[in-house]
Amino acid sequence: MNTNLSRRRFLVTAGATAAVIAGRSVYDVDKVWAAAYTRRNLGGMAATDPVLVSYGKAIKAMKMLPGTDPLSWGYQAAIHGTTLPGGYTAWNTCEHGTHFFWSWHRMYLYWFERIIRKMSGDSSWALPYWDYNDASQRALPAAFRDSSSELYLMDRGFGWNTGAASFDPNRLDPSNGNLLTSFFDAQSSLEQQPHNHVHVDIGGAMGDPSTAAIDPVFFVHHSNIDRLWNLWLAQGGGRADPLGDAAWRNNNYTFFDEKGQAVQMTACDILRAAEQLNYIYEGEPSQVKEYCLKVPRFVLFLIVEVLIHWPGPPVELTGKDVTVELDIRQFAQRLAPLAESKTEQVFLELKDVEAERSPGAAWDVYLGLPPNTVPNPGSPFRVGTVSLFSAGIRSKTHKQFTPEHFEFRVNRAIAAAMRTNKEKLPLTFVPAGPLIDGKASRAEVKAPVHIGAINISIGKVEKREGKEPEGPHQK
Ligand code: C2O
Repeated sequence: MNTNLSRRRFLVTAGATAAVIAGRSVYDVDKVWAAAYTRRNLGGMAATDPVLVSYGKAIKAMKMLPGTDPLSWGYQAAIHGTTLPGGYTAWNTCEHGTHFFWSWHRMYLYWFERIIRKMSGDSSWALPYWDYNDASQRALPAAFRDSSSELYLMDRGFGWNTGAASFDPNRLDPSNGNLLTSFFDAQSSLEQQPHNHVHVDIGGAMGDPSTAAIDPVFFVHHSNIDRLWNLWLAQGGGRADPLGDAAWRNNNYTFFDEKGQAVQMTACDILRAAEQLNYIYEGEPSQVKEYCLKVPRFVLFLIVEVLIHWPGPPVELTGKDVTVELDIRQFAQRLAPLAESKTEQVFLELKDVEAERSPGAAWDVYLGLPPNTVPNPGSPFRVGTVSLFSAGIRSKTHKQFTPEHFEFRVNRAIAAAMRTNKEKLPLTFVPAGPLIDGKASRAEVKAPVHIGAINISIGKVEKREGKEPEGPHQK
């Protein structure tokens, strides 16, 4: 019943937009295929695997098309972002730091995958995913490092193409985001970690939204980010898509199908990947089914009460360690039990975070690090990483500029810190690059980052009836 209604609604929408987009094709999103495509795990996949061979074959063919052809490699990358002039249809439409991060990228990958299927001649092709949280997949997959392959790109940061560079697993850990139960909070957290950090660490083209999608590794990275959406939902516990948010449901985006015809989509067309888009991820639990016409009765979201506000001047992050000290004397009584609490969460909020240009580096953030301790990303004192990709970077936005904000969960760090010091909480920022030959490295900082405001806050999950509230994350 619901499916029929939403199909009808979709067709009405499609009819209304047909006049706007010339040559719009009708695509069959509702048809359920007997066998859904399976997006496979890249782990252990040989370079000769048909999935990787077809991917390379399609890229080669796409690079031979003129850049004004929507099926060309350059045009597809420009839909995400480009500095090229021309302003062709759908260029520079990627969404970061907004409500539409997951949904826009799901649509983008879906049409890209159909184009690869066509351009490779491999009708069963599905985009693999790069599970860099798996200990055996923290370096760039070998097939992408072979300089004779179409999957190779020279423009990557130091060590990635030789296999010397790898991710520090602490900086990619999705568990903080997974814990959050409100959609926009979880999405924002997972966008920063692992998503942004993968971009910043790989660097080169991947480090900048206006070039990122020319690197073939972009798409296997985003396949994983899209998989994380399903995994987040599958945890249950009230987690749900924000169907009460009209903009989230109805924002219309333009892409191109494999015939080069413009197509439009809204979030309502992509809620159920298997059913509406015909794909599943290898190894995922069964997908949660949500329907646009069925708004959940309750939504969960996080309310935040500021406990401690850093009164000092804005903090500048550069190539050196920076420490500020938060005075906690007045709050020690209250913080100690909170830090152990299971129902209330303590957050470190970094607000009005911005840089003029891509900083080219990330900063690990430590709270309560005892004096004369070497910062160790695996210690309980590391609470997160500041990795800026698009949001917060002034020169890299095709939308109105918005500063970035971070909320790191700090219960564990505060509990550890207060065992030795109940007066001051040092907050330390350490510039960090990828691991090189398994050892910590410092990335070269190309532009400093400014943090306008720092708070220690208490967050409580609240259940509200009906629609998504206007929260602190409305952008
Ligand atoms: Cu739109 Cu990972 O970038």
